[in-house]
Amino acid sequence: MADEGCHDDMAGEVLLEVQSLSAGYGNVEIVSGVSLKVSEGEMVALVGPNGAGKSTVLRGLAGVIRVFDGTVKFLGKEVTRHPLESLVRQGIGYIPQGDDTFPHLTVKENLEMGGYLLATNERRQAMSHVLDRWPQLVPMLKRRASTLSGGQQKMVALGRAMMLRPRLIMLDEPTAGLSDELTRMVITDIALGLARAGTSVLLVEQKARVALETADRAYVLVNGRVAMDAPATEILADESMAEVFLGGRSGAERAG
Ligand SMILES: Nc1ncnc2c1ncn2[C@@H]1O[C@H](COP(=O)(O)OP(=O)(O)OP(=O)(O)O)[C@@H](O)[C@H]1O
Ligand SMILES: [Mg+2]
Repeated sequence: MADEGCHDDMAGEVLLEVQSLSAGYGNVEIVSGVSLKVSEGEMVALVGPNGAGKSTVLRGLAGVIRVFDGTVKFLGKEVTRHPLESLVRQGIGYIPQGDDTFPHLTVKENLEMGGYLLATNERRQAMSHVLDRWPQLVPMLKRRASTLSGGQQKMVALGRAMMLRPRLIMLDEPTAGLSDELTRMVITDIALGLARAGTSVLLVEQKARVALETADRAYVLVNGRVAMDAPATEILADESMAEVFLGGRSGAERAG
């Protein structure tokens, strides 16, 4: 799909620009006035306590829930309320919270599912691109996804999303259920690696510390609003923000 981007330009163009987004469920507005942006090559974290509305922001961006107000632009073009499939075609990948793999399919079949929009030939190319990036997947290709470890399944889920070579990938808590060691691997190796290789990352994480240690910039969401927007290291150093996270039952994990 997308052409090979200009990977050496770290301060690249703005890919995603969200202005005053309000979104929710039914008639209930859960997040309000959320503005954020993600540029080429960047890893941006969206952090905040349980129930703050982080997943809701991503769902609003991904066109899967009701957007009340605000605009979403991707590559300068307005895509507010575009359905997910259209966004995917335009170069946005989205891995929802708790969405890993098709457990009964093999790893290879899972990757192929990610390339469903591609012609056979392109799909083969995309597959070899993904396997070049994560050669660890090669010996697992014939295994059913359900037989893999949590960390391996995460890599398959990411590989599936990468089949269409998105310019931007939105990840909702990719580390849920993973050990500290795997969490660090997913965030510092996989996610940051993607950003630096040309697929920008918008990462929702409840494990705020490791996300903030790794991301370039971050937004702190509290009660559906952006409470702080700064370079990630500044947020990490901010005492009032530390309190927000301590109040966020950081060890707890939810499936939904
Ligand atoms: N499908 C839904 N219908 C109605 N309300 C919902 C729905 N999903 C979430 N909510 C509500 O929206 C609010 C924000 O939820 P959301 O899942 O966005 O929070 P979050 O920041 O992602 O939390 P977590 O870190 O626990 O995943 C919560 O009050 C939640 O109850
Ligand atoms: Mg969530």
